[in-house]
Amino acid sequence: MYTIFMANNFSQLFDKQKPPVYKFFVNGKWQESKSKKLLGIKSPINGEVIGAVPSVSFSEAEEAVVAAREAQKKWEETAISERVDLLHKAAALIKDNQEVLTNLIVMEVGKPLKESQDEVLRTVDLIDYYAEEGRRVSGEVLESSAFPGYPATKVAIARKVPLGVVLAIPPFNYPINEGAPKIVSALVTGNTVVLKPSTQGAISSLHMVELFRAAGLPDGVLNCVTGEGEDVGEFLVTHHQIDCINLTGSYETAQRVSQKAGMKKLLFGLSGKDASLVLSDADVVLAASEIAKGSFSYAGQRCTGIKRVLVEEKIYENFVAELIEVVKKKYQVGDPRKKETSLGPVISDKAVKYVQELIDDAVNLGAKIALGGKREGRFMEATILTGVTKEMRIAWEEPFGPVLPVMKIKNWQEGVQLANESSYGLQSSVFTKDLDTAWKAANHLEVGSIQINGKDARGPDHFPFTGAKHSGLGMVQGAKYLISEMTKYKTIVMNTKP
Ligand code: G3H
Repeated sequence: MYTIFMANNFSQLFDKQKPPVYKFFVNGKWQESKSKKLLGIKSPINGEVIGAVPSVSFSEAEEAVVAAREAQKKWEETAISERVDLLHKAAALIKDNQEVLTNLIVMEVGKPLKESQDEVLRTVDLIDYYAEEGRRVSGEVLESSAFPGYPATKVAIARKVPLGVVLAIPPFNYPINEGAPKIVSALVTGNTVVLKPSTQGAISSLHMVELFRAAGLPDGVLNCVTGEGEDVGEFLVTHHQIDCINLTGSYETAQRVSQKAGMKKLLFGLSGKDASLVLSDADVVLAASEIAKGSFSYAGQRCTGIKRVLVEEKIYENFVAELIEVVKKKYQVGDPRKKETSLGPVISDKAVKYVQELIDDAVNLGAKIALGGKREGRFMEATILTGVTKEMRIAWEEPFGPVLPVMKIKNWQEGVQLANESSYGLQSSVFTKDLDTAWKAANHLEVGSIQINGKDARGPDHFPFTGAKHSGLGMVQGAKYLISEMTKYKTIVMNTKP
C-alpha cells in the first residue's frame, strides 16, 4: 500500500522507511528535519499510518522565510512571460502525475476517487487560467489636470507591484486545489511563497510542491514546511518578514492568526453555515438534487457545503420526501477508493464525535432523523434531520460532516432573516421560479455570493469568491480577483514645469 506514497519519481521527498518519513522543502532542496518531531498521518479510511511529516524547528521555518525573502527581488524582476511558462509547466506535470496525486488525496483525506480526480484536474485548469490572467496585470497612468484646479504638471504612473513574501495556509479538505491558487496567484505576480499545509493533507501538498520544483522554479521561490498550527504555524504568522497571510480554515484559527499577525495583509476564506432557501414555487426535483450534492459531496466537508435547508411550509413534506429519495439513491457510504463511492469517511475521530454530538443534541430536543443516523467508525451515513428548530445547536454550528438539518419557514422573508441570524456569511442558495423574489432575497442575504437555482459552490475558479461576517476577509479566490490581491500600488509621479 505504500507504493503510491513511495512512487519513484518522488523519491527525494522521503526516506526509505515504511511508512515513509517526509522531508521539507527550502531553497530548492528537500531536507531532513533535525527537529526529530514527527507527525504521523493516518488515513481516515482505515486508520493506518501512511507516512509522517516533520514538525520542523523554528530555525528551519526561519530558513524558509529567509530563502523566500532572498529570492523575491530577482523573481519579481523575472519576465512575466517566463513566470507564466514555468507555471504552465507545473500544471502539465500535475496532469502527468494525476494518478499519484489522486490516490494520495483519496488515502490521505478520504475523498472519494472521482472527487479526488476532479480536484487534481480542476487544479491543472486553475493553474493554467491563473497563469494567463497574470499576464494581464497592469497599473494605470493618471493626469494631474483631471483634478479640479490642477495644472497639467504631473503624471502619475501607478504600478502594481508584488506584496513580497506570502504565507499560504491551505486546509485539509482540498490539499491540492486550495494550495494551488494561493501559490500561483502569488508567484505569477512576483511574490515568493512559504507554504504551510494542513498536517492532514501535507503529504499531497508536498507532492504538488515537488512538481512545481520539477517545472524549474528558481531556488527559494516556493518553500514548504510542515508542523502544527500552534507550533510552526504560529511562528510563521508572527514573522516580520511575511507580508501577507492567505489562509483557508476555520473562523477560530483565523481569529487567532489575526490577533498575532501584526501589520500584514490578511486574506481569509473561512467557515460557513450556508442556508438554502426552497420557496413554494421551486422546481422540487431540481432543488432536491442540487441540495443533496451541495450537502453530501465530500461527506459535507466543504466550506461551501449546504448546511441547512429552509423550506416554505407549503412544499415542506413534498421537498423532504424528494430529498430523501435522492440522497438514499446517490449517497451510500462506501470505500472512497472505489470509483462508484460518493460518500467516504469523515476526516478524524474527533470530527465524527463533534458531528454526532450535534445530531444527538438535535434529537434530544425533538428533531427527527428522517434518513441515516448510523455510523461505523469514521463512516457516517448521510443524515437528514427534520423538525429542526432554532434552539438546536445544529441550526447554527457548522458540523463539517454528512448531516443536513431541514427547517420550516413561512415565506422568503423569514428564510432570509433566519439565514442572516448566523454569524457566518459564506454563501446561500435560493430555489424559486420567481426571479423578482430571487433578486430581492439575494439582495438581503448577508453572504459573499448567492446561487439562484443551483447548489452552493466556489467555482468556476474565475468567479469572485469571498465570505461576509465570520466567513472571510478579502477576495480569497477567483483568478483576477485573487491575483489583484497579491499586488499593491506603487506610484511614481513625473513632475514637469508648467
Ligand atoms: O472548502 C472550501 C472550498 O473553497 C469549497 O470549494 O465549493 O469547490 O467545494 P467547492
